[in-house]
Amino acid sequence: MLHVKQVSKVYEGKVAYRALTDINLTIEEGEFVGVMGPSGSGKTTLLNMIATIDEPTTGEILINGDDPHRLKKDKLATFRRRELGFIFQDFNLLHTLTVEENIMLPLTLDGRKVKEMKQKTAQIAGKLGISDILTKRTYEISGGQMQRAAIARAMIHTPELLLADEPTGNLDSKSSKDVMQLLEVINKKDEATMMLVTHDPQAASYCNRVVFIRDGKFYSEIHRGNNRQAFFQKIIDMLSLLGGDDNDFSSVRI
Ligand SMILES: Nc1ncnc2c1ncn2[C@@H]1O[C@H](COP(=O)(O)OP(=O)(O)OP(=O)(O)O)[C@@H](O)[C@H]1O
Ligand SMILES: [Mg+2]
Repeated sequence: MLHVKQVSKVYEGKVAYRALTDINLTIEEGEFVGVMGPSGSGKTTLLNMIATIDEPTTGEILINGDDPHRLKKDKLATFRRRELGFIFQDFNLLHTLTVEENIMLPLTLDGRKVKEMKQKTAQIAGKLGISDILTKRTYEISGGQMQRAAIARAMIHTPELLLADEPTGNLDSKSSKDVMQLLEVINKKDEATMMLVTHDPQAASYCNRVVFIRDGKFYSEIHRGNNRQAFFQKIIDMLSLLGGDDNDFSSVRI
């Protein structure tokens, strides 16, 4: 459902910087793919181009056969709102709204009826175990609850593709595990296609496949099989082969 074809990205500036070179990546419908690599290797750059937040310098990105980068501005906004879901490290919740209002936001922007929105919110909140905090504001809830609210918001419109950039980066290991288990369930039950950028091998071990990039280039990929613990070990081994700066290891939770 997602095809990244020979994509390169050069950031123009006083000194042009080549962040990605000839990336090819295919994600099948219903697949859950992790992207790992040292800091600065181009993970967020890749995710932002798929998210249509940024454009490739060369190459092509197809989502269900269409290139969203070719859409006009208003069509692109609709595409982004309907077909894509985003989860960020810092949650990106709006602090003046309640949890419920935050979760409904994609539907509100789409002009849906209040009754339908409330119903959908109640349903997804139940699934994510946050029904009892819907009337609270963001400063009254924990980091793990905020991230679950952010996941609810990213999923409420059942997007074709869910994109997550370090969704567990600000969470303790217990909340991080909860969030990954939730994402795994959403992937399996709702057959959502998902891409996860992460430094955290524990989080990555929930994916079906992990793709490694280094210096903006494809490095390797490994598949999970049916043993998550063995996959976790393989990821750790690959990361040590891959190297990276010291800073990277501060976020590795074992
Ligand atoms: N808007 C920009 N303008 C210029 N250079 C940029 C821009 N965004 C990113 N870069 C550079 O591109 C490279 C890749 O950045 P990117 O954010 O994709 O890395 P990353 O793999 O997500 O790193 P991290 O793990 O630290 O989040 C880095 O060297 C970064 O400095
Ligand atoms: Mg990044």
